[in-house]
Amino acid sequence: MSTDGVDTSKRRFLTAATSVVGGVGVVAALVPFVNSMSPSDRAKAAGAPVEADISKMKPGEQLTVEWRGKPVWIIRRSEQNLADLPGIDNMLTDPNSESAQQPDYATNPGRSIKPEYVVLVGICTHLGCSPTFRPELAPADLGADWKGGFFCPCHGSRFDLAGRVFSGVPAPTNLVVPPYTFLSETKILVGVDQGAA
Ligand code: FES
Repeated sequence: MSTDGVDTSKRRFLTAATSVVGGVGVVAALVPFVNSMSPSDRAKAAGAPVEADISKMKPGEQLTVEWRGKPVWIIRRSEQNLADLPGIDNMLTDPNSESAQQPDYATNPGRSIKPEYVVLVGICTHLGCSPTFRPELAPADLGADWKGGFFCPCHGSRFDLAGRVFSGVPAPTNLVVPPYTFLSETKILVGVDQGAA
């Protein structure tokens, strides 16, 4: 669209193209580095812990990092999200996290070290699709009881904002909580158990 003689749609496209070129440059710079690693170094790098900066996360937001080739989600839950969790226990298969889907330090109602932040492997426990983050309250397609959570588009499994699976869906167990630890108030290390960093 043109305003004041300036074609803003073209400018937007140019900005996007510049960002993509910048991204390609970063990838190109990394490839020789990875190729120069020995196979055992590469294996070690692939399984290495991943640091996540949570300093800019606002309540209700999701951040995704990759760890061991899998998406790992960090969700900053709002006070309302936390207050809503116990109210849906009767709709869940394993509300008290009795199956071994999390480390001991995350075997609690919020399945987390700090109530505000939950860390989950973003892979559906049915057949491995990646569920979609659906933080909205009572959206039309998920129903009036929906308090925010994750919906798997492959076969309709649902999980709440602690990764707990709803009853009557194909997924048999809660989402996995990976090992993680807080390095500081604003940094999480995924892949290392709390107390072991
Ligand atoms: S893989 Fe998620 S419901 Fe089947």
